[in-house]
Parts: sequence; C-alpha cells; structure tokens
Amino acid sequence: MSERKTHDIAIIGSGPGGYVAAIKAAQMGQSVALIDHSYLGGCCLNVGCIPTKTLLSNASVLQTIRHAKDFGISVGPVSFDYAQMKAQKDKIVAKIRASLEGLIKTNKITIYRGKAQFQSPGELKIIGQDNLFVSAGKIIIATGSVPLDIKAFPCDHHRILNSTSILEITELPRHLCIVGGGYIGCEFASLFNELGVHVTILEALPTILAGQGKQIAEFMTKAFHARGIDIQTNVAVQRIDNQKSHAAIALVNGKTMDADIVLIAVGRKIYTDGLALDRAGLAVNEKGAIETNSRMETAVKDIYAIGDVTGQWMLAHVASHQGLVAASNASGHEMHIDYAAVPAVVFTSPEIATVGLNLEQAIQAGHTAAAGFFPFQALGKAQASMETEGFAQIVADRKTGQILGAQIIGRDASNLIAEMALAIQNELTLESVMQTIHAHPTIAESWLEAAAIANETPIHFPPRTKR
Ligand code: NAI
Repeated sequence: MSERKTHDIAIIGSGPGGYVAAIKAAQMGQSVALIDHSYLGGCCLNVGCIPTKTLLSNASVLQTIRHAKDFGISVGPVSFDYAQMKAQKDKIVAKIRASLEGLIKTNKITIYRGKAQFQSPGELKIIGQDNLFVSAGKIIIATGSVPLDIKAFPCDHHRILNSTSILEITELPRHLCIVGGGYIGCEFASLFNELGVHVTILEALPTILAGQGKQIAEFMTKAFHARGIDIQTNVAVQRIDNQKSHAAIALVNGKTMDADIVLIAVGRKIYTDGLALDRAGLAVNEKGAIETNSRMETAVKDIYAIGDVTGQWMLAHVASHQGLVAASNASGHEMHIDYAAVPAVVFTSPEIATVGLNLEQAIQAGHTAAAGFFPFQALGKAQASMETEGFAQIVADRKTGQILGAQIIGRDASNLIAEMALAIQNELTLESVMQTIHAHPTIAESWLEAAAIANETPIHFPPRTKR
C-alpha cells in the first residue's frame, strides 16, 4: 500500500456529524476527505432515526384506521404485512443514502471507503474497499456510537437483539421483552405495541425514562399502561437463555419470563475502536469519550471531535451542529457550540419533546422559577382532532420572565418544540410569546396559553386560586 493523498481536512465517519462537517468545510473552500467503512449516513440514516421513524409512520397510519370509528367512519377488517413495511423502510433508507452520496459528490468531497487508523496526528491509514494513506492539515473524528451489549447475555441477533438487528426482522413476535426503558426501549415499545405485539419493558431503575424527569416519567408510565404495555421497574435480568422456540428470561428476584424475542436497549457505547488514538496523542475519558472545548477542538492541535464520540448529547442534530462548529473552526472561521437550547424528542406515542431546563433543574440552578402547565384537554384544536392526551409546559424565571425550558407531550410534540428552542436560544421571555399572534385553531396555541399561565394571566384556563 503506497498510495498517498493529501487534503485540507479529513473527516472520519459520515453520520449526521461527519457529512454535515464535510459539506460545511467544502463550502468554505477546503479540500475535504470523508472516510467511512460502512454505509454513508451513519447510524441515524441506516439503523437509527430514519428507519425507526419510517416504521413509526406505518404504525401511525394503522392507529388512525383503527380509530376511524371514533370519527364516524366505518372500515372493514384491517390487516397489514410487516415484511412489506420492513421492505418499504429499507427502500426509503436506500433512497436517502443515494441522495446523500450525490449531495456529497456535488460538493466535491472525496469519499474513501475503509476503516481509518491514525499513523500520527496528521496522517491516517485507510484499510477496506480503498487502501491508502491520507494526510490532512485538520482531522475531525465523528465515529459515533454502537449499541451496548450486556456481557452476561450478549446479543445473538436471533432471539436476543439490539436496536440494529431488530430492524431486520420480517415477522412480528407475539411477545417482545425490552431490557431498558430509556429512549430506545420506549420508542420500540411504542412501535411494536401499536403493531399489536405484547410488549414488556424491564427497567433496572425505579422508573422508565428516568432521564426525562419525574413529571414526564409518570405521565408516560400511565400512557404506556393505558396502551397495554407491561412495565416492570427495579428489575435486573440475570440470564437469558435462547431456547429453540423462545427466550427464557431469569430475573435476579427469582421470577422468570418467556418472550419470543428480547431487545437489549441499555444504552450506547462510544465507538473509537481501531482508531489508534494514542498514535495521534489522544486519550479518551472514563466514559470512553473524546473531550473537546466549545470549538470542538480536542487536546491535540488540529484534531476535532464531534457527535456521540464527544459523549455530550448523543443526538443526531447535536452532532450536525457540532459538525458546523468544527468545520468552521478548521476552515479558519471562529464558531462556538452552545448547548443551552438543545431540543430532544422521544418518538413514542404520545411523543415527548423537551428543551432547556425543567422546573426541578431551574430551581436547582438557582432561579425563582415558574411553570405554566397547559393540558391539551383545554385546547379546541386538540378536542376537534380527538387528541387531547398531553400538555405543554413552559418554565421561566419569575423575576425576569426569561424562558428557561419547555416540555411537551402529545401529538406533534416533535415539531412543536421548535418554537421553544428558538425562544430559549434567543433569550426570549414569556412576554415575547404572549405578544406573538398564534394561529387558531392549532396545537401551537398551547405555548401561548402555557406562557400566560406561567405569567399568572391565563385566558383559556381558570385563574390560580389565591392561597
Ligand atoms: P438510555 O440511556 O436512554 O436508556 C437505557 C436504559 O436502560 C436506562 O433507563 C437504564 O436504567 C436501563 N438499563 C441499563 N442497564 C440495564 C439492565 N441491565 N437491565 C434493565 N435496564 C437497564 O439509552 P438508550 O435508550 O439505549 O439510548 C441511547 C442513546 O441514544 C440515548 O441517550 C439517546 O441520546 C440516543 N437516542 C436518541 C433518540 C432520539 O433522539 N429520538 C432515539 C434513540 C436513541
């Protein structure tokens, strides 16, 4: 192997962090190499956000048809073909992947297909479909994360699956047991429940979605129970035996359970395998992450890190934004990352979306905080569309009125959170939201109402009774 190429910037990993950084750097006139040993688009496009949201759309259509009777519409018997849904999901992913490749090429970015390994801080060896050495003035590491395995019962991808292999099944199980009730566990629980699978979540902590705070965790526990999802908390799995016809699950408390398949969703592991970071003079922290400053620079000059590998948020859109920051700085344009207004969405039914601080966090941060909670029950549009499950809540500083955070659960929460992200990023106040005319009748009006409630001047909600 003697071929050698030189670029201004080399980016390792083509996920939503890496490819966005590549396009930004190319726009800024840099000669860019984008290196990946797998499909372009990373986890998000190939085995994460896009395939799961495709399947969730199928499930949502099914739910709409099943509830047609509530709207006075009769439909005949409803059936579906999961293998066809899966095939459609694969087709959509392949189509986006092809568009992405076109986009990268139009930006005159060179793609190298292979695994990158540092030889020195400015040189990489690529091994795979392409085999060569790449030298670059700046290197951006965007290698992401992979599903975390449990050593005692590793995935066999037949009965014990992870979030990647479960996307490959073509036949629905009757009973799916999910170990871990976090983001991934709950999204898959919701999806398969809507498709008629009996779902059990086994969560080690006292609640599912513990990271979302008590209010959301309690709301979602009730919502999941109402949908027939079985949630068992404070449980630890001791063993999973792959029997011929099923998986036999033994819990530490002595109980046992059978399931057709088990999904392991206990977190994701930062992926830096094979990079030989030490040859670049880089080390990972105790979480396995590569630490960066607000310019996305690592401890080694001219090496940047973005995305899951930084151990910050593990969200595709954060990776993309970090990519813009790293690419700008690497191209000589100063830019800093700011995590004050990161929207996060859990695509369950109902959807959860949050940004900024919740009430507990705001109080802990020393604010005299007020929360305006507005249930969708009180909203005309929600009543009209029979989607009254959920609420919108704004957390603000009582003295200044500045919006510190927002939480929303319900239909379209994933889209509705954008208004609050904009408000927080731009340090807007309750007054700014109340001064903004919101179209009627829409679910977005709930922000107007929540702001008015936090301000103690509600219009469509009873005034707070004086104590
Ligand atoms: P997570 O950290 O959200 O949840 C893992 C859950 O598993 C925790 O509740 C934990 O207590 C539990 N757990 C750990 N070990 C266990 C055991 N042995 N038995 C039972 N329960 C156990 O991790 P998850 O759900 O795997 O997601 C990983 C990351 O991927 C998230 O942090 C999120 O940032 C990202 N993600 C984002 C999505 C989105 O933006 N919509 C969707 C999916 C993932």
